[in-house]
Amino acid sequence: MNILVVLAHPDKNSFNYTIAQTCIKQLIENEHSVIFHDLYRENFDPVLNTPEIPKNGAVDEIIKMHCEDLTKSDGIIIVHPNWWGQPPALLKGWIDRVIRPGIAYEFEEGDGGEGVPIGLLKAKTAVVFNTSNTSMDRENNIFLDPLETLWKNCIFDLCGVKEFYRKMFRIIVTSTTTQRKSWLNEVKTTVSSFFPLSEKFE
Ligand SMILES: Cc1cc2nc3c(=O)[nH]c(=O)nc-3n(C[C@H](O)[C@H](O)[C@H](O)COP(=O)(O)O)c2cc1C
Repeated sequence: MNILVVLAHPDKNSFNYTIAQTCIKQLIENEHSVIFHDLYRENFDPVLNTPEIPKNGAVDEIIKMHCEDLTKSDGIIIVHPNWWGQPPALLKGWIDRVIRPGIAYEFEEGDGGEGVPIGLLKAKTAVVFNTSNTSMDRENNIFLDPLETLWKNCIFDLCGVKEFYRKMFRIIVTSTTTQRKSWLNEVKTTVSSFFPLSEKFE
């Protein structure tokens, strides 16, 4: 299967970077084709401008390539830290520009955008790995876990990706090496449970 991995973290020494590398290694071991976008290293331009907004708007070659990669993916893995309850701005820009009308969703004829869109993505499964420094209790009860709503409801469910799994690793700043090793093992088993050896899918 084609699995798209999107990483948004500026630091190659970050835990997020290691999570993404662990995902890729496991996917390759499981004989999948990996499409990897490391948005910071690619210098992804996150700004959505007016001409690009309409369904048939003008998109540049880079966005076309990102859209093709998204369209051909059977599974999607997103890796990013929790920054103010949101993805880093670069990834928000990727959402704005790549998860676009006609590619990821569309409105029924006669619906000017006020209704519920139809999801167009062929990917069946999306997995999101996040990191943060907030306790689960505070994240869920004070902040209402905005990243869960964003990725599960606002994005993947709307775009037709029905199977969704998200894991927030926390608390990173006080975590020990042993804890991180165990989290990376969890990344491996999660990847293998959603994207097992290719032949099991045939
Ligand atoms: C701009 C910025 C905003 C952040 N906002 C939050 C936040 O809202 N909640 C939180 O728990 N951690 C927040 N953090 C901490 C990061 O989530 C944390 O540093 C990261 O998950 C650690 O993983 P890493 O080692 O891969 O960077 C923020 C960090 C930065 C730089």
